[in-house]
Amino acid sequence: MIQIVPSILSADFAYLGEEMAQVKAAGAQRIQVDVMDGIFVPNITVGPPVVQALRKATDLSLEVHLMIQHPERFLEVFAQAGADGIIVHQEACTHLHRAIQEIKALGKRAGVAINPATPAVVLEEIIQYLDLVLVMTVNPGFAGQEFIPSMLPKIRKVRQLIQERGLACELEVDGGIHVDTAPLVVDAGADVLVAGAAIFGQPGGVAAAMQRLRDSVSG
Ligand code: DX5
Repeated sequence: MIQIVPSILSADFAYLGEEMAQVKAAGAQRIQVDVMDGIFVPNITVGPPVVQALRKATDLSLEVHLMIQHPERFLEVFAQAGADGIIVHQEACTHLHRAIQEIKALGKRAGVAINPATPAVVLEEIIQYLDLVLVMTVNPGFAGQEFIPSMLPKIRKVRQLIQERGLACELEVDGGIHVDTAPLVVDAGADVLVAGAAIFGQPGGVAAAMQRLRDSVSG
């Protein structure tokens, strides 16, 4: 079952509550909140107060993607704000095993994201503890960027790692996912697709955009 996860980065931040209602009505079960600190990535977005507000505004599962340096400083804060899942970047964590153990001790789903230049091999010692691996298919920081096709072999490698070890870990991709790239990443082994620009601000609205994405991978 392929899951489509709208990323709020491309939503209208002046109407986040209404936009969440639209993605829920369109069948989404989970949304991704892109947290950026202007250090780990060249952009700044939102923090715990917005997660708190979203928690009150929706019962959708909130997956917080921490594109921040040393995310271990903020795990409890985001958990308390209402995150259901927390994704940290392997490149940003000095003690990744400890960070994952802390997320799980907080009772949240634990994910690790890897940037385009980071090889799948860095997951070998940690994947057994994860609910989710996120393979970035753009360099993180902005919505609407061009998909990086050379990430397809890496997605296959991660899928192979999951299969070899018989893990239930989700394989999520994020960045430049739209009707043309979605079939490629699903064929490579992705089962969760994060999309921002392909869902928000599209002709026909959120529901039509999500349906187009679903149709692109239903064949
Ligand atoms: C990092 C962000 C984006 C966003 C979705 O840049 O994580 O990937 O979620 O981006 P698009 O608009 O490419 O789907």
